[in-house]
Amino acid sequence: MYSKKVMQLFKNPKNVGEIKNADGVGKIRNPVCGDTTEVFIKVKDNRISGIKFKTLGCAAAISSASITTEMAKGKKLSEAEKLTKEKVVKQLGGLPENKIHCSVLAVDALKEAIKDYKKRCLKAK
Ligand code: FES
Repeated sequence: MYSKKVMQLFKNPKNVGEIKNADGVGKIRNPVCGDTTEVFIKVKDNRISGIKFKTLGCAAAISSASITTEMAKGKKLSEAEKLTKEKVVKQLGGLPENKIHCSVLAVDALKEAIKDYKKRCLKAK
């Protein structure tokens, strides 16, 4: 059974979409179910100034992505890198045990997007 928060965000997720000229993009596919989450970030002064996501997945994956992007918005990159699935699951009011793996998608996609941004910065130098 999903929490009220999960159902709320599943029906009305925040930050859904794509950033065309993103500074970093990360995409993660769950090897078990095949679902994917893609995260797009804009970075200004070492902070996440814009963030969007696209998820092809279950209610837990969509609500996790919504809350992950909300938690990361405006944060320094170093703070956003410390986000964990445990923090996301807590903010969601918990997830059923067999849905915990779904919360990893957005957190990992965010970390990939930050890595991608850093790689692009190195190339630009
Ligand atoms: Fe695939 Fe939830 S069942 S992410």
